[in-house]
Amino acid sequence: MNPLKKHEFLEKNSFVLLIAIIVTILIGGIIEIIPLFRAETVIEPVKGVRPYTPLELAGYNIYIREGCYNCHSQQIRPLRDEVERYGHYSLAAESMYDHPFQWGSKRTGPDLARVGKKYSDEWHVAHMMDPRSVVPESIMPSYRFLMNRGLKMHDLPQHLEALALVGVPYTDEMIKNAKQDALRQATGEPRANTSALLERYGENVAARDFDGQPNLVSEMDALVAYLQMLGTLVDFNLTKEVEAELNQPKPENTPVQQEVTP
Ligand code: HEC
Repeated sequence: MNPLKKHEFLEKNSFVLLIAIIVTILIGGIIEIIPLFRAETVIEPVKGVRPYTPLELAGYNIYIREGCYNCHSQQIRPLRDEVERYGHYSLAAESMYDHPFQWGSKRTGPDLARVGKKYSDEWHVAHMMDPRSVVPESIMPSYRFLMNRGLKMHDLPQHLEALALVGVPYTDEMIKNAKQDALRQATGEPRANTSALLERYGENVAARDFDGQPNLVSEMDALVAYLQMLGTLVDFNLTKEVEAELNQPKPENTPVQQEVTP
């Protein structure tokens, strides 16, 4: 059959044409949308990004439970004012293991995406206990009770397991040792042996007593461990060097404009 004839048939039967249009758009849609369901195909791998340690994950869970996201975002947008205030803009990979993500659009308080290592543990504890003691004009509520609450660690393996199901690369070994690892990270050196923990999660894991109560692994320990690692996984020094190079003043040999006399 002449292909033009076929098309004539479509053009003369608007209902058939409609079905053909829908089928064509569906095929295009499927081809474009399905790959986006897999994080690997949309997020560029970035060196240094790793899943949370069990203690940090517990802190992340407390962050969500207490609704910190109602006042804090964790997404630095690539705009000049944000980058100058908070640091390098957020990369997709930096929140790829957050389920749910904590980007947010509500900033009653500052963005926390790069708050890690900005303050000492003591500052964070004092700030959580009584924000006004360190920032007199603060309107942040006090979270003093976190100090006295022992961290529930018995269900950490299940938390890791659930995240592994949705694609976070927790190994069986990490899941099996989750409780031990949380305990090791929160008691810190030199008392506990943290080498197995570092072997599993990498050298940039901070293991110490975060809340200043060596005999208790509190919810404060977990929350401060979480806050102190935010935004510290990716080394941006390399990009700083490249940017500095780009911002160098132009070399002297640029032609000087000649004065033109009429
Ligand atoms: C009612 C809103 C509100 C809630 C809820 C809230 N914050 Fe804040 N937060 C603020 C404000 C406002 C500031 C800025 C003043 C200050 O430093 O206290 C702040 C500051 C901070 C800072 C210091 C940031 C910086 O770069 O100086 C941290 C860390 C922080 N909050 C963590 C938390 C955590 C963790 C929670 C949940 C347990 C939480 N906040 C809940 C409003 C809030």
